[in-house]
Amino acid sequence: MESLGLRAVGSHCSLSEMDDLDLNRALLDRPRLKIERKRSFDERSMSELSRHDSPRGRSVLDTPLSSARNSFEPHPMMAEAWEALRRSMVFFRGLPVGTLAAVDNTTDEVLNYDQVFVRDFVPSALAFLMNGESDIVKHFLLKTLQLQDSEKRVDRFKLGKGVMPASFKVSHDPIRETDHLVADFGETAIGRVAPVDSGFWWIILLRAYTKSTGDLTLSETPECQKGMKLILSLCLAEGFDTFPTLLCADGCSMIDRRMGVYGYPIEIQALFYMALRCALSMLKPDGDGRECIEKITKRLHALTFHMRNYFWLDYQQLNDIYRYKTEEYSHTAVNKFNVMPDSIPDWVFDFMPLRGGYFVGNVGPAHMDFRWFALGNCVSIMSSLATPDQSMAIMDLLEHRWDELVGEMPLKICYPCLEGHEWRIVTGCDPKNTRWSYHNGGSWPVLLWQLTAACIKTGRPQIARRAVDLIESRLHRDCWPEYYDGKLGRYVGKQARKYQTWSIAGYLVAKMLLEDPSHIGMISLEEDKLMKPVIKRSASWPQL
Ligand code: GLC
Repeated sequence: MESLGLRAVGSHCSLSEMDDLDLNRALLDRPRLKIERKRSFDERSMSELSRHDSPRGRSVLDTPLSSARNSFEPHPMMAEAWEALRRSMVFFRGLPVGTLAAVDNTTDEVLNYDQVFVRDFVPSALAFLMNGESDIVKHFLLKTLQLQDSEKRVDRFKLGKGVMPASFKVSHDPIRETDHLVADFGETAIGRVAPVDSGFWWIILLRAYTKSTGDLTLSETPECQKGMKLILSLCLAEGFDTFPTLLCADGCSMIDRRMGVYGYPIEIQALFYMALRCALSMLKPDGDGRECIEKITKRLHALTFHMRNYFWLDYQQLNDIYRYKTEEYSHTAVNKFNVMPDSIPDWVFDFMPLRGGYFVGNVGPAHMDFRWFALGNCVSIMSSLATPDQSMAIMDLLEHRWDELVGEMPLKICYPCLEGHEWRIVTGCDPKNTRWSYHNGGSWPVLLWQLTAACIKTGRPQIARRAVDLIESRLHRDCWPEYYDGKLGRYVGKQARKYQTWSIAGYLVAKMLLEDPSHIGMISLEEDKLMKPVIKRSASWPQL
């Protein structure tokens, strides 16, 4: 461990201090907790080993020998990854405040990859927290909070107070010898896209920091309390909405270009849900905090119901939609959103296994985007937006459709890609998002950490180990690219940066999670037992 420059620290999960809705605080003291949790993960994975043979007959016991044998030995790639991660660190007046999106010396086309992106910093932050280095995370949270307070405009339009930046950079004045921060809230971003996910990631990271360090003093400061409330006031305001999901513009999250990811995209809904629950565990019930807590609780209730019922797709559900009647009026409607069965794309019928399911990409009036999105589904598992059965089904699908979703490089950002006429109309002829490239079905190594977290949460670490093996066979050799192209993810992406920081950090987080599964507490939430089980959609109207 020493030679890798790692500090041998375990998880600092301080579950007893601030917690999710349903954990039994009194029973848990820290050291015992770690042992008990580890044991339960191991037990679950052992029982999974005997239970889950993939439908294609590929047993999970087929995990390549290397990973089975060496899974707890540090891989030489880890030392390289730590070095590369440290090279990406950004300092403000001597203090570490984040990591650059990429440190690629092979290209002059820097664009904004020399900035600290909020979403990109999350895996870096988790890696640092898991390694016992919490300072950089604390400074990042505080600096971005200060930036939230600044005035933000796009031309003459003033943006909402709660908006968190997409990214920021530290600019150094060599004459005055001072640093100052310059943020981007979308006003200089390509396409002027709004970073809706930034605020959610900020809240999720604040909880991860608190959970990992046990330091309640940060989240309890009036500044952090206010920051959370400002973010949430943007999403909890009353309006014309008829759905509890959050209505969004295209390109407002990881997929920050036109890709038909607008309306009610799964990634935002899952992050919204997770941020609401994280905020609930940190908000103080004083003054306007109480009101905010009440709003969150009500929204969570409605959001959970909506997502678990209307976004869920499995074989049975697909068959039901296929047989839907349309133009139904009144409360008795079964096809509430008037989805046209003819809009179901052909590929779904072949893709859907008998066992397995997933949250679809989007649901709105006469609109169901049947594409599978990795981030939304993994975050749904981590946050317990998915019920335990749904979580298992998502993992079943992943195992069953391994070639399509994982292929030779984990993990497809979405499946399938858009081609031809559809690509022209939906992306606006975007040459970066051609089929099986970048956001359009490209393979993103960063998603490994979310996949691994989902695997550990569902007690199926062997799936993550298979994915880690694939990454270890190439990522370092290819200089840590941002993304891969092709149906199987075989080719380094057309315009992929090298030494992309979140590809590096994502790998480290995945490895550390596998090594010590108790780290999962930082980025997962237990099921909210207050939520009623999923009921049939036709029964959702109150029966009097
Ligand atoms: C690309 C990605 C975006 C990421 C940024 C920096 O724009 O689409 O998700 O935050 O690069 O890596």
